[in-house]
Amino acid sequence: LRTAILISGRGSNMDALIEAARAPDFPAEIALVVSNRPEAVGLAKAKAAGVAVAAVDHKIYAGREEFERSLQIVLETHRIEFLCLAGFMRLLTPWFIGQWRGRMLNIHPALLPAFRGLHTHERALAAGVKIHGCTVHFVVPEMDEGPIVAQAAVAVLDSDTPESLGTRVLEQEHLLYSRALRLVASGAVRAEGNRVLGASASP
Ligand code: GRF
Repeated sequence: LRTAILISGRGSNMDALIEAARAPDFPAEIALVVSNRPEAVGLAKAKAAGVAVAAVDHKIYAGREEFERSLQIVLETHRIEFLCLAGFMRLLTPWFIGQWRGRMLNIHPALLPAFRGLHTHERALAAGVKIHGCTVHFVVPEMDEGPIVAQAAVAVLDSDTPESLGTRVLEQEHLLYSRALRLVASGAVRAEGNRVLGASASP
């Protein structure tokens, strides 16, 4: 399954996916990394890892749709069949999401449906939750919604700061994303309505 990873920044989840996909039995191949920020550190890391890279700089386009049409052409040129969003910080239009419906995953640093949006670790601490974590889900037009493929939980400590909690969640993200991609790419799980059914997708 020819898979592209969309990033905007440091790309640590991207690294983890590239690494996992090197396993001979992994059902997806990371064929391309695309960033909307040409200067993204992750883009240089992907290149160094021997993965094809492309930058589609959103700033040079008049609007979201122009940007996405260009992105779509890059993906088609590389014969991409599946997308993983990994720290990709642009909202996508229903048109683009429609092109990739059922073929696009995202990772979110919270246990959805709790704490959609940004600053999830600060908000989890402010809310006093004792369990936090991360979620991999299929992308639908509503932000941070869509059938959940897998989640990993992290215990919140009294001593936690947003940074310390975020570090432990990120470690889990790196494990979770490749596990989730394996399940989806191998066909072990499938989306049915708002749920994902099949082999148990959470640790
Ligand atoms: C991760 O926490 C991811 O869940 C969120 O943005 C962060 C990206 O980090 N969507 P990285 O670029 O993968 O290191």
